[in-house]
Amino acid sequence: MSEPLILGIESSCDETGVALVRGCELLGESVASSVDQHVRFGGVVPEVASRAHLEAMTPTVRRALDSAGAKLSDVDAVAVTAGPGLAGALLVGVSAAKAYAMALGKPLYGVNHLVGHVAVDQLEHGPLPKPSIALLVSGGHTSLLLVNDLATDVVSLGDTVDDAAGEAYDKVARLLELPYPGGPPIDQAAQRGDPKAMRFPRGKWGDGTYDFSFSGLKTAVARHVEDAERRGAPLVVADIAAAFQESVVDVLTRKAVDACVEHGVSTLVISGGVAANSALRVLAEQRCQEAGIELRVPRPRLCTDNGAMIAALGAEVVAAGLPPSTLDLATDTSLPV
Ligand code: KG4
Ligand code: ZN
Repeated sequence: MSEPLILGIESSCDETGVALVRGCELLGESVASSVDQHVRFGGVVPEVASRAHLEAMTPTVRRALDSAGAKLSDVDAVAVTAGPGLAGALLVGVSAAKAYAMALGKPLYGVNHLVGHVAVDQLEHGPLPKPSIALLVSGGHTSLLLVNDLATDVVSLGDTVDDAAGEAYDKVARLLELPYPGGPPIDQAAQRGDPKAMRFPRGKWGDGTYDFSFSGLKTAVARHVEDAERRGAPLVVADIAAAFQESVVDVLTRKAVDACVEHGVSTLVISGGVAANSALRVLAEQRCQEAGIELRVPRPRLCTDNGAMIAALGAEVVAAGLPPSTLDLATDTSLPV
């Protein structure tokens, strides 16, 4: 018997993502983003995101089904992000998933968004070795996870204590008058800059934890900009971007590789929007090679929020034989792993 066809629905932030997955195979997907509506605010506005999900949900499900050449009646189970995320945004996805599950008479599975970011790697690189370490870096999260089993046993090793890595990129881009989201323009500017032109602090460096902190770094960049303005000195945006980026990727890769070594794990997955960062990829590859660790980074489209990550995790949960959620499945804005 072939593996069940999973419909995955994601709506935790500003992307409405829907996908169809069977086992480790991505059959079709569609993503609608409201990012353009948030640009002028310099960050995601929850109410705007919720309304956009509501408008995009049904057409996105239709497009995902079409791209998979499937019908709704082919679906064997529905998986949806139950948290963490924005309250109103999550509610739209969970309500839609309940409606589809009920109408189809198929089981519903509420799953964790963070674990979804790791599960999605299986669609590109095949089954994840057990255990693996995962570094999740996006606008909303910066977490290190020990993944013993995607469906049943994921342990959080550390988190950011303030800003997420992507959030730091977005805030620093604003200071440098670069557009939102700030990751891509800083990444590009940094390639023309000298990372040694100045040195910014490395938050929680060598503190013996797997936690991260980026607010001190952001403040250091702000001080540097203010100081240059006061002196009437020109701002060398490329150098500031390069030095800021070096601080971020240095801490992220050091702690991720340390976690692999301490736990005797030989596979590291890096996922989330910041995984698209060129310097992060280069340094992670170099440090993993030195430590004999296999590095897995899904392609950028799978790293950002999408329905495939939720369908991929749904497939794992169904395969593990976990009980489905009931129709009173609640959303949880800070759902732990
Ligand atoms: O995963 P994602 O699409 O959405 C969530 O936040 O969940 O991640 C978006 C974040 C933004 O903060 C954006 O600035 C950052 O990922 N980002 C990058 C790059 N591309 C996107 N950060 C650094 N370098 C990049 N190339
Ligand atoms: Zn995410």
